[in-house]
Amino acid sequence: MEVFSLHVFSHPFAAKFVKMVVWLTFLTAMASAEIQTHTFVLQSTSVKKLCGTHNIITVNGQFPGPTLNVSNGDTLIVKVYNKAQYNATIHWHGVRQFRTAWADGPEFVTQCPIRPGGSYTYRFTITGQEGTLWWHAHSSWLRASVYGALIISPTMGTTYPFTKPDRQIPIALGEWWNRNPIDVVNQATRTGAAPNVSDAFTINGQPGDLYPCSSSDIFRVSVKAGETNLLRIMNSAMNTDLFFSVANHTMTVVAVDALYTKPLKTNVLMLGPGQTTDVLLVADQGIGRYYMAARAYSSGQGVPFDNTTTTAILEYEGSSTTSAPTMPSLPFYNDTKTVTTFADGLRSLGSHDHPVFVPQSVDENLFYTVGLGLINCTGQSCGGPNGSRFAASMNNVSFVLPSSFSILQAQLLGKKGVFTADFPDNPSTQFDYTAQNISRGLWSPVKDTRVKVLKYNTTVQLILQGTNIFAGESHPIHLHGHDFYIVGAGFGNYNSRTDPQKFNLVDPPMRNTVNVPVNGWAAIRFVADNPGAWLMHCHLDVHITWGLAMVFVVNNGPDSLLSLESPPSDLPLC
Ligand code: C2O
Repeated sequence: MEVFSLHVFSHPFAAKFVKMVVWLTFLTAMASAEIQTHTFVLQSTSVKKLCGTHNIITVNGQFPGPTLNVSNGDTLIVKVYNKAQYNATIHWHGVRQFRTAWADGPEFVTQCPIRPGGSYTYRFTITGQEGTLWWHAHSSWLRASVYGALIISPTMGTTYPFTKPDRQIPIALGEWWNRNPIDVVNQATRTGAAPNVSDAFTINGQPGDLYPCSSSDIFRVSVKAGETNLLRIMNSAMNTDLFFSVANHTMTVVAVDALYTKPLKTNVLMLGPGQTTDVLLVADQGIGRYYMAARAYSSGQGVPFDNTTTTAILEYEGSSTTSAPTMPSLPFYNDTKTVTTFADGLRSLGSHDHPVFVPQSVDENLFYTVGLGLINCTGQSCGGPNGSRFAASMNNVSFVLPSSFSILQAQLLGKKGVFTADFPDNPSTQFDYTAQNISRGLWSPVKDTRVKVLKYNTTVQLILQGTNIFAGESHPIHLHGHDFYIVGAGFGNYNSRTDPQKFNLVDPPMRNTVNVPVNGWAAIRFVADNPGAWLMHCHLDVHITWGLAMVFVVNNGPDSLLSLESPPSDLPLC
């Protein structure tokens, strides 16, 4: 530790290492850190849902998968055996993976998939992170059933920056298909049409009593009157932004994406897939039963979506189990105003122990469009609009995963032909991105594997600009390996002269997944201080399937302690 600190502060870029001070505090606290070892066996498991029996892929036969409870500073060693019939990987969503990009998990980005019969051990340390994250498969649509919570408690001897809750309840919101989700996406990929919408949403794996054959196994939480509960809510759905509400109870948001916020009181949350929200809920209502419920926020005009509602029951001790629970009123499906109000209310905590370091100046100014598109089918008629095939892109590049090497391996080995380093910093054609009638000539992206290379410690400002091609939609954009500040957001086209004047450079929320407003933009800032290959993508799996993704390759730092570790010996090869 001593060596490390001397080392950092003797460095010429010392000013850029202010963050390291905080880091070192964590390192000191790590004296109490544990090493946790887990085994994940991916296997086909039979479950009963919605009046039928289905074979789904699970971890250790559990759906949702096991909750991992760790403390900040702990090291996780998770040995994954793939006994399923599909390729698989596991991603630790939101874990920074400092120097351990090999354990990040997206297939063909940081590793080749674990083939059926194979195994791989993920090893990484939780460094300076507290709150609710989650893990999920990162291969095809396997994550529909392969996911679970990753709960990070404060290191021993430190506490939450809020009243200690009496109990904690993980709430994983999921999305369910009666058909095998892998078949659903494979069919869509074959035909070019949009994949079928889901049949249900779930809370901790249960659809709830508004669906057929589902009332007896609805998820129930029992609470004591007067108690403070910490709900750790995750949107693990595949393709749907979700509103979440609890009848008669006000929630106080205290963290998002495992980053503390100033307390925000609200009756409703909106989470894009990938996002987490920690709320305090005081059982301050009459002894009784109250529904917790979630349903879609669907921002795309004319875009089909699952309009069903999932429920769970919050029951006070002493309430009669026969009384009908009270139902919360959820916002209407396209209530963008409620979404904006909620997003605008979030602020970083900015306390002594959890300071805010918003980059005040920027080295790289990037502008990426995000949106849908259509590709013409030559010699055949596809299942998309007018015989075309659906696509999606960033800066008109529809991302194609490599198949013979992961991007990270190719980078390490200097292997040519796997990707090119020419992902554009700006769209090659500028147009009115959010106009009603965008010329058809701008609808067809190029399919390619392009990355953007960032020098170590580059401060990046990235404008994510939604387009109205085919249908403008809100996109939950997730960046691997980094958290970022959301310094601004708005509707319409980003204006580089007037909009930066309104940026919050004091206490903007920090997250790993930002909802880019429908036909609008979001501005994020981050420091590329983590060497590796980091996928950035829309967390609606239907959009990542269509290519709404790109990769940042972050170079090694000036010495070995700031460089990527060597690849583990059991790293799956292609
Ligand atoms: Cu939650 Cu690329 O993933």
